[in-house]
Amino acid sequence: MSKKNIVLIGFMGTGKTVTGRVLAERTGMELVDMDSIIEERAGKPISDIFANEGEPAFRKLERALANELSQREGLIISTGGGVVLDPDNMADFHNGGLVVCLTASPETIFQRLENDTTRPLLSGDKKKQISGILETRKPLYDAIEHQIDGDRLDSEGRAEAILKLYE
Ligand code: S3P
Repeated sequence: MSKKNIVLIGFMGTGKTVTGRVLAERTGMELVDMDSIIEERAGKPISDIFANEGEPAFRKLERALANELSQREGLIISTGGGVVLDPDNMADFHNGGLVVCLTASPETIFQRLENDTTRPLLSGDKKKQISGILETRKPLYDAIEHQIDGDRLDSEGRAEAILKLYE
């Protein structure tokens, strides 16, 4: 029997990775982290890809990987926050997958990422950058049918809510 993928979407710092880990433990499904795969294959961190080849080159790698992973089954896919920018990614993920969007307030995101140095899009005034990017992407995240409130729920609660949708 085929098992659909669970696709975790959401802005940076909304808890996709940690929620994916809990889901993998609870279900025994394989967890794949898109950013980690891109880094492994490129042999360098995302920040280097952005700095050396530019964001469009990163988005191309992300696009190809979204397509590749969508053709597999039974995966928990932790995506990068910008995967929503390409409608083809979303079409692929929705094709046979359960797509959920994790949300968090800008304050929570700021607290989580305040000392992070790995996100190339947050390299200046983080508060400003978070609210600016969130605002432009809001319609894309809001368009996802299943929203999981990451401010109200901890990672266990988020996994629980996602598994209810997966039944
Ligand atoms: C990005 C989010 C990052 C990573 C890259 C770009 C974005 O992933 O893919 O830095 O555009 O929101 P996380 O959401 O895991 O931080």
